[in-house]
Amino acid sequence: MESLDDFINASVAAAHSAKPLKALTELLKKTVSKPDWFAEILPVTDDDEILLHASNELTIYSIKLTPGLQFPPHSHEMPVVIGFYEGCETNLIYKKQSNGELLQTERIDFEAPCVGQLDTDVIHSITNYGQATSRAIHYYLGDLINQPRSLWNPESNESMLFDNSKYFEYAKPNLE
Ligand SMILES: [Fe+2]
Repeated sequence: MESLDDFINASVAAAHSAKPLKALTELLKKTVSKPDWFAEILPVTDDDEILLHASNELTIYSIKLTPGLQFPPHSHEMPVVIGFYEGCETNLIYKKQSNGELLQTERIDFEAPCVGQLDTDVIHSITNYGQATSRAIHYYLGDLINQPRSLWNPESNESMLFDNSKYFEYAKPNLE
């Protein structure tokens, strides 16, 4: 693999294989130890999120997280594989209680290079407690753009249909 096209093509082939979760995880395990290679092949932009590919089987985002910011809880309604290749990122995991409110039940700290998986029903919020920008490739095993999914207002705990502008609007400082 030399170019972004090569990486996307290899990712799509992995998503169409007999065991997509395993194949996509293996592909990321091979690449997360090469942060310079990702810097070379990824588009140069100031955007925090870059959509690299979207189809029924696979959505690929390149996502960077600014230190100090916590994004609101949300679901994906499909399995997720994340390849962390620079910095550290924390996932806070929530369970929905009978009254509909979220309760944080787990904290997972990822430090690059590593690969993480999230099950279909996971509700999480992501943040960067480190000093430097974190960078990761996110594989969503489905059409994330058109998938109805949920977003929670972190102040009111109110759930709503996921909305990208609201997602960024609800980002807040991650004071511990
Ligand atoms: Fe997410």
